Amino acid sequence: MTTTNTPRPTLDRNLALEVVRVTEAAALACARLMGRGDRHAADEAAVVAMRRAFDGVLVRGTVVIGEGERDEAPMLYIGEKVGGGAEHDPEVDIAVDPLEGTNLCALGLPNAIAVVAIADKGNLLHAPDCYMDKIAVGPAARGVVDLDRSPTDNLKAIAAAKDMYVEDLTAVILDRERHQKLIAEARKTGARVKLISDGDVSAAISACIDGTGIDVLFGSGGAPEGVLAAAALRCLGGELQGRLVYRNDGERERAKKMGIHDLDKKWGLTELARGDVMFAATGVTSGDLMKGVRYFKGGAHTHSIVMRSKSGTIRHIDAEHHFDRKPNYGA
Ligand code: FBP
Repeated sequence: MTTTNTPRPTLDRNLALEVVRVTEAAALACARLMGRGDRHAADEAAVVAMRRAFDGVLVRGTVVIGEGERDEAPMLYIGEKVGGGAEHDPEVDIAVDPLEGTNLCALGLPNAIAVVAIADKGNLLHAPDCYMDKIAVGPAARGVVDLDRSPTDNLKAIAAAKDMYVEDLTAVILDRERHQKLIAEARKTGARVKLISDGDVSAAISACIDGTGIDVLFGSGGAPEGVLAAAALRCLGGELQGRLVYRNDGERERAKKMGIHDLDKKWGLTELARGDVMFAATGVTSGDLMKGVRYFKGGAHTHSIVMRSKSGTIRHIDAEHHFDRKPNYGA
């Protein structure tokens, strides 16, 4: 028999449906500002809405990947306690990116998403805000890639695992100056290369989903985004390896302070996101994974995905929101 004092199972099934409300709220808030050219305003709208929505989630959460340090971010800062949980509710680590792809939203480009990952306390890597060199593939190429091998070798291994020609593979790479060598090498193999301006969480997830046409994500992007993507790939059965990349000694010191002892470690998927993990994302602008927010008179449609590593269930949730009955969502 369950009494009010009996601890609830951590990350239980119902929680997934509560968590998606949090990403929906963030997406609905920032999508209002799509294409206005103001990435900060869009981000702030998503942060405020997500923070408020967390009050309705019955967990005792600590933000471990968030908007920054307490002195630089007023909400969803690292270490902030969120969730409306009581003593018997689970203690969890929370990773958030209320608007992943601030520029994508500000410019009305595809693949801006609102993202949350949740794991039992202590199970998400507390990644500093530096870069992470990443490789991410879907289930069909799990176990055959290695961040320490060349892009050419990895593309050959992915092609063999998928029984495809290298020329038929699509590699996604952030379009950055620092990736010029990587882009040149990937092109030389004959693989198709998709350069993206932002949004490597969405790209890593897309590598796991049939029909997106994406086979691998290469290159360095944000380390916090690496942990979020790892949580998603745990649920999807894909693989992600990452290594922190530091631009200066300050970033190295910061990593040490956050408990990272081996600064050059190659992190595997289950080291980035351990145990039972839950992941939710809602589309802000339409993209490879999800449709963006679509308004109608008095409301809006959203498209979200919610996943749990334990069951491997991937739920697509199409929601119709009516702002007269949920005034906060229409703000
Ligand atoms: P924001 O949403 O914070 O703007 O991040 C977008 C993003 O493109 C991430 O997807 C990616 O990991 C990171 O920025 C790359 O950083 P940079 O723009 O410095 O290369």
